[in-house]
Amino acid sequence: MNTEYLTVTGNRETDEEVIRRAADVIRSGGLVAIPTETVYGLAGSAYLEGSAQKIFAAKGRPADNPLIVHIAEPGDAENVAHTNPLYFALAKRFMPGPLTVILKKRDCIPSTVTAGMDTVAIRCPSNPVAHRLIEVSGHPIAAPSANRSGSPSPTSAAHVRADLDGLIDMVIDGGECEIGLESTVIRLDGEDACTVLRPGAVTPDMLAAVCRKVMISPAVVEPQLAGDAPPESPGMKYRHYSPKADIVLIDAPEETFLRYVRETAEGHYGVMIPNEDAGYFNGGTMLLTGPRNDAKEASRRLFSLLRRADEAGLDHVYVRLPLPEGETLALYNRIVRSAGCRILKLGGSGNPYEK
Ligand code: TXA
Ligand code: MG
Repeated sequence: MNTEYLTVTGNRETDEEVIRRAADVIRSGGLVAIPTETVYGLAGSAYLEGSAQKIFAAKGRPADNPLIVHIAEPGDAENVAHTNPLYFALAKRFMPGPLTVILKKRDCIPSTVTAGMDTVAIRCPSNPVAHRLIEVSGHPIAAPSANRSGSPSPTSAAHVRADLDGLIDMVIDGGECEIGLESTVIRLDGEDACTVLRPGAVTPDMLAAVCRKVMISPAVVEPQLAGDAPPESPGMKYRHYSPKADIVLIDAPEETFLRYVRETAEGHYGVMIPNEDAGYFNGGTMLLTGPRNDAKEASRRLFSLLRRADEAGLDHVYVRLPLPEGETLALYNRIVRSAGCRILKLGGSGNPYEK
């Protein structure tokens, strides 16, 4: 298949033409990779079973891992799922934006989309291209991250091309994603509580402004991949975000981490560090996460840095474990999975989650 590449530039007229062509592809059952504020998504009509089948095939995705359904307006959830007051309270505060809510599904959504589950994940993206494409196509859009299953999620059109060129109909290049990590996925528990199944830019503290009680699924912070027990959010059990390079994840105070890497690293290695630490090393490839303590910038860059490690042909990359809380909870969750859940503990960091 010849993949077509189109670019949106912010020019109203030409962007509308790009979106119109992409909407034709969606309506006729094809697949288009689109920018969203989190990561690029591989979009197909959520009403067409054939589109969902193509999505699973193009990604090489296990059939038991359900897709997120994207809608243009929070109220559109009612067309595809059974909503409730808590959903609308959350939507009012966080939609459009990087929050995905699990609701009971309606029959119009084929079971291939939800991997046989009777629930459906709903998200209303804020990215204008994603939003407009859903509007113009007139279909809700099923879209997982636009990477081959297992590799880091794409935050640029170049990442999508590296994974899916020749496997999908079209790619819309909308520049780099603003957030860089996938949306927060939550389950609603009764009238005023929720559980975070996958952490993202909408943090548990932020959710607490709307929900009386916010729980975090153990799968979010436990370093082990879930075993045979069916996890609540099936995606959490798969090895994920993994570059070919071996990620050496170290739980240690910063000084200890830096010294350890400087003294022991050899061969073709990289080290993921804040800008300020770049001068500490003579050898190795610096994978800079941005200014120290800038969790948003580090989140924006993570997947791109993991891909760069492979482009540079690195054998291993040293990464310091972030704290499993607040703004770095999502980073923690992704980094632990990219390291295959192996953590090397050096010195006392006070982190209770080490292995
Ligand atoms: O930011 C995002 O959410 C991006 C952009 C493209 O919107 N999409 C994304 O999709 O990350 P994906 O397919 O890579 O991840 C979806 C996650 C998986 O962990 C999946 O298991 C979970 O959501 N999920 C989907 N439907 C679910 C359901 N009905 N119940 C529980 N978890 C569900
Ligand atoms: Mg994904």
